[in-house]
Amino acid sequence: MYPGPEQPARTVGKRILMRMFGRPTGLLGRLGGIIMARTNQKVAAWAIDLLGVNPSDRVLEVGFGPGVGIQRLAKSASSGRVVGVDCSTEMVEQATARNAKAIEAGRVELREGSVERLPFEDETFNRALVVNSMQVWPDVVGGLREIRRVMKPGGRVALAFTRHSGQPTSGLTDALTAAGFSGVRVAEREDGFCALATKPRPK
Ligand SMILES: C[S@@+](CC[C@H](N)C(=O)[O-])C[C@H]1O[C@@H](n2cnc3c(N)ncnc32)[C@H](O)[C@@H]1O
Repeated sequence: MYPGPEQPARTVGKRILMRMFGRPTGLLGRLGGIIMARTNQKVAAWAIDLLGVNPSDRVLEVGFGPGVGIQRLAKSASSGRVVGVDCSTEMVEQATARNAKAIEAGRVELREGSVERLPFEDETFNRALVVNSMQVWPDVVGGLREIRRVMKPGGRVALAFTRHSGQPTSGLTDALTAAGFSGVRVAEREDGFCALATKPRPK
Protein backbone atom coordinates (compact mmCIF):
# COMPACT_ATOMS: atom_id res chain seq x y z
CA MET A 1 0.00 0.00 0.00
CA TYR A 2 2.79 2.46 0.86
CA PRO A 3 5.41 3.16 -1.82
CA GLY A 4 8.87 2.07 -0.66
CA PRO A 5 12.13 3.89 -1.38
CA GLU A 6 12.86 1.52 -4.26
CA GLN A 7 9.64 2.69 -5.94
CA PRO A 8 9.92 6.48 -6.23
CA ALA A 9 6.49 8.05 -5.75
CA ARG A 10 6.24 8.93 -9.44
CA THR A 11 2.55 8.54 -10.03
CA VAL A 12 -0.06 10.83 -8.52
CA GLY A 13 -1.56 7.84 -6.65
CA LYS A 14 1.74 6.94 -5.06
CA ARG A 15 2.45 10.55 -4.13
CA ILE A 16 -0.94 10.77 -2.42
CA LEU A 17 -0.30 7.53 -0.49
CA MET A 18 3.09 8.84 0.60
CA ARG A 19 1.55 12.12 1.82
CA MET A 20 -1.23 10.30 3.64
CA PHE A 21 0.68 7.42 5.20
CA GLY A 22 4.39 7.18 4.33
CA ARG A 23 5.46 10.63 5.58
CA PRO A 24 2.13 12.26 6.45
CA THR A 25 2.00 15.90 5.33
CA GLY A 26 -0.69 18.60 5.38
CA LEU A 27 -4.41 17.91 5.22
CA LEU A 28 -3.92 14.51 3.52
CA GLY A 29 -1.46 13.56 6.22
CA ARG A 30 -3.87 14.48 8.99
CA LEU A 31 -6.55 12.37 7.29
CA GLY A 32 -4.05 9.52 6.93
CA GLY A 33 -3.35 9.73 10.66
CA ILE A 34 -7.04 9.36 11.48
CA ILE A 35 -7.27 6.30 9.21
CA MET A 36 -4.06 4.69 10.60
CA ALA A 37 -5.24 5.16 14.18
CA ARG A 38 -8.09 2.76 13.33
CA THR A 39 -6.48 0.34 10.88
CA ASN A 40 -3.09 -0.39 12.46
CA GLN A 41 -3.94 -0.64 16.14
CA LYS A 42 -4.58 -4.41 16.32
CA VAL A 43 -1.21 -5.28 14.83
CA ALA A 44 0.49 -2.64 17.03
CA ALA A 45 -1.12 -4.16 20.16
CA TRP A 46 -0.02 -7.65 19.10
CA ALA A 47 3.57 -6.47 18.48
CA ILE A 48 3.68 -4.79 21.91
CA ASP A 49 2.57 -8.06 23.52
CA LEU A 50 5.30 -9.94 21.62
CA LEU A 51 7.88 -7.32 22.60
CA GLY A 52 7.15 -8.05 26.27
CA VAL A 53 7.29 -4.59 27.86
CA ASN A 54 7.93 -4.53 31.64
CA PRO A 55 6.56 -1.76 33.90
CA SER A 56 9.99 -0.15 34.44
CA ASP A 57 11.20 -0.36 30.81
CA ARG A 58 12.54 2.58 28.80
CA VAL A 59 10.88 2.19 25.41
CA LEU A 60 11.52 3.86 22.04
CA GLU A 61 8.97 3.92 19.20
CA VAL A 62 10.15 5.10 15.78
CA GLY A 63 7.51 6.28 13.28
CA PHE A 64 4.69 6.41 15.86
CA GLY A 65 2.22 8.13 13.46
CA PRO A 66 -1.02 9.07 15.26
CA GLY A 67 0.36 7.71 18.57
CA VAL A 68 -1.91 4.75 19.28
CA GLY A 69 1.09 2.47 19.91
CA ILE A 70 2.62 5.09 22.22
CA GLN A 71 -0.61 5.10 24.24
CA ARG A 72 -0.47 1.34 24.68
CA LEU A 73 3.27 1.31 25.42
CA ALA A 74 2.71 3.90 28.15
CA LYS A 75 0.18 1.57 29.80
CA SER A 76 2.68 -1.33 29.75
CA ALA A 77 5.70 0.74 30.89
CA SER A 78 3.63 2.14 33.74
CA SER A 79 6.59 3.16 35.90
CA GLY A 80 9.11 3.54 33.05
CA ARG A 81 9.36 5.97 30.17
CA VAL A 82 8.18 5.96 26.54
CA VAL A 83 9.90 8.12 23.94
CA GLY A 84 8.84 8.48 20.31
CA VAL A 85 10.46 9.90 17.18
CA ASP A 86 8.59 10.63 13.94
CA CYS A 87 9.62 12.79 10.99
CA SER A 88 6.09 14.18 10.37
CA THR A 89 4.99 17.41 12.07
CA GLU A 90 1.35 16.42 11.58
CA MET A 91 1.88 13.04 13.30
CA VAL A 92 3.75 14.65 16.20
CA GLU A 93 0.72 16.93 16.64
CA GLN A 94 -1.84 14.09 16.53
CA ALA A 95 0.17 11.82 18.80
CA THR A 96 0.79 14.67 21.25
CA ALA A 97 -2.95 15.36 21.48
CA ARG A 98 -3.68 11.64 21.95
CA ASN A 99 -1.06 11.28 24.72
CA ALA A 100 -1.43 14.69 26.39
CA LYS A 101 -1.93 13.40 29.94
CA ALA A 102 1.04 11.02 29.89
CA ILE A 103 3.23 13.75 28.36
CA GLU A 104 2.16 16.17 31.08
CA ALA A 105 2.95 13.52 33.70
CA GLY A 106 6.48 13.18 32.21
CA ARG A 107 5.99 9.50 31.29
CA VAL A 108 5.90 10.07 27.51
CA GLU A 109 8.08 12.27 25.31
CA LEU A 110 7.45 12.75 21.57
CA ARG A 111 9.98 14.32 19.23
CA GLU A 112 10.07 15.27 15.57
CA GLY A 113 13.11 13.60 14.05
CA SER A 114 14.37 10.87 11.84
CA VAL A 115 15.57 7.30 12.38
CA GLU A 116 18.72 8.21 10.46
CA ARG A 117 19.84 10.39 13.40
CA LEU A 118 18.18 9.56 16.69
CA PRO A 119 18.67 12.33 19.27
CA PHE A 120 19.66 9.98 22.10
CA GLU A 121 22.77 8.73 23.87
CA ASP A 122 24.06 5.21 23.23
CA GLU A 123 22.37 2.46 25.28
CA THR A 124 19.32 4.46 26.41
CA PHE A 125 16.42 2.04 25.78
CA ASN A 126 15.72 -1.60 26.56
CA ARG A 127 12.77 -1.98 24.17
CA ALA A 128 12.17 -0.54 20.67
CA LEU A 129 9.10 -0.70 18.45
CA VAL A 130 8.53 0.12 14.78
CA VAL A 131 5.10 -0.39 13.17
CA ASN A 132 4.52 0.07 9.41
CA SER A 133 7.36 2.58 9.07
CA MET A 134 10.56 0.78 8.05
CA GLN A 135 9.31 0.12 4.50
CA VAL A 136 9.58 3.84 3.67
CA TRP A 137 12.98 4.54 5.24
CA PRO A 138 15.62 5.54 2.68
CA ASP A 139 18.29 3.34 4.36
CA VAL A 140 16.79 0.38 6.23
CA VAL A 141 20.02 -1.13 7.61
CA GLY A 142 21.32 2.35 8.54
CA GLY A 143 18.08 3.06 10.45
CA LEU A 144 18.23 -0.30 12.24
CA ARG A 145 21.88 0.29 13.18
CA GLU A 146 20.90 3.64 14.66
CA ILE A 147 18.16 1.93 16.73
CA ARG A 148 20.71 -0.66 17.89
CA ARG A 149 23.07 2.13 18.95
CA VAL A 150 20.51 3.67 21.32
CA MET A 151 19.49 0.27 22.77
CA LYS A 152 20.98 -1.35 25.85
CA PRO A 153 22.73 -4.72 25.37
CA GLY A 154 20.13 -7.46 25.83
CA GLY A 155 17.37 -5.06 24.71
CA ARG A 156 14.69 -6.25 22.28
CA VAL A 157 13.32 -4.69 19.08
CA ALA A 158 10.02 -5.45 17.29
CA LEU A 159 9.41 -4.52 13.64
CA ALA A 160 5.72 -5.02 12.87
CA PHE A 161 3.80 -4.69 9.60
CA THR A 162 0.20 -5.00 8.52
CA ARG A 163 -0.46 -7.01 5.36
CA HIS A 164 -1.25 -3.79 3.45
CA SER A 165 2.10 -2.17 4.36
CA GLY A 166 3.86 -3.25 1.17
CA GLN A 167 6.69 -4.83 3.20
CA PRO A 168 7.50 -8.47 2.33
CA THR A 169 8.53 -10.87 5.14
CA SER A 170 11.61 -11.83 3.16
CA GLY A 171 14.68 -9.75 3.92
CA LEU A 172 13.75 -8.86 7.51
CA THR A 173 16.14 -11.36 9.09
CA ASP A 174 18.99 -10.28 6.80
CA ALA A 175 18.38 -6.58 7.49
CA LEU A 176 18.30 -7.08 11.29
CA THR A 177 21.40 -9.30 11.19
CA ALA A 178 23.27 -6.79 8.98
CA ALA A 179 22.44 -4.10 11.55
CA GLY A 180 24.00 -6.18 14.34
CA PHE A 181 20.95 -7.75 15.99
CA SER A 182 20.80 -11.45 16.88
CA GLY A 183 18.22 -14.13 17.68
CA VAL A 184 15.86 -12.95 14.95
CA ARG A 185 12.46 -14.63 14.72
CA VAL A 186 9.45 -13.69 12.62
CA ALA A 187 5.90 -14.23 13.95
CA GLU A 188 3.01 -14.22 11.50
CA ARG A 189 -0.75 -14.02 11.68
CA GLU A 190 -3.52 -13.25 9.19
CA ASP A 191 -3.44 -9.45 9.40
CA GLY A 192 0.31 -8.93 9.83
CA PHE A 193 3.76 -10.11 10.85
CA CYS A 194 6.40 -9.06 13.33
CA ALA A 195 10.18 -9.57 13.42
CA LEU A 196 11.75 -9.71 16.89
CA ALA A 197 15.47 -9.49 17.64
CA THR A 198 17.92 -8.74 20.45
CA LYS A 199 20.94 -6.45 20.76
CA PRO A 200 23.69 -8.90 21.77
CA ARG A 201 25.54 -8.42 25.07
CA PRO A 202 29.33 -7.96 24.72
CA LYS A 203 31.25 -11.25 25.12
C1 LIG B 1 2.60 4.27 7.65
S1 LIG B 1 2.91 5.36 9.00
C2 LIG B 1 2.70 4.27 10.41
C3 LIG B 1 2.36 5.02 11.66
C4 LIG B 1 2.10 4.17 12.90
N1 LIG B 1 3.28 3.45 13.32
C5 LIG B 1 0.97 3.21 12.66
O1 LIG B 1 1.22 2.00 12.51
O2 LIG B 1 -0.18 3.66 12.58
C6 LIG B 1 4.67 5.58 8.91
C7 LIG B 1 5.19 6.57 9.93
O3 LIG B 1 6.62 6.53 9.91
C8 LIG B 1 7.11 7.86 9.89
N2 LIG B 1 8.42 7.85 9.21
C9 LIG B 1 8.66 7.58 7.90
N3 LIG B 1 9.97 7.64 7.64
C10 LIG B 1 10.58 7.96 8.81
C11 LIG B 1 11.95 8.17 9.18
N4 LIG B 1 12.93 8.06 8.28
N5 LIG B 1 12.22 8.49 10.48
C12 LIG B 1 11.20 8.60 11.38
N6 LIG B 1 9.91 8.41 11.08
C13 LIG B 1 9.60 8.08 9.82
C14 LIG B 1 6.06 8.66 9.15
O4 LIG B 1 6.10 10.03 9.42
C15 LIG B 1 4.77 8.00 9.62
O5 LIG B 1 4.23 8.60 10.77
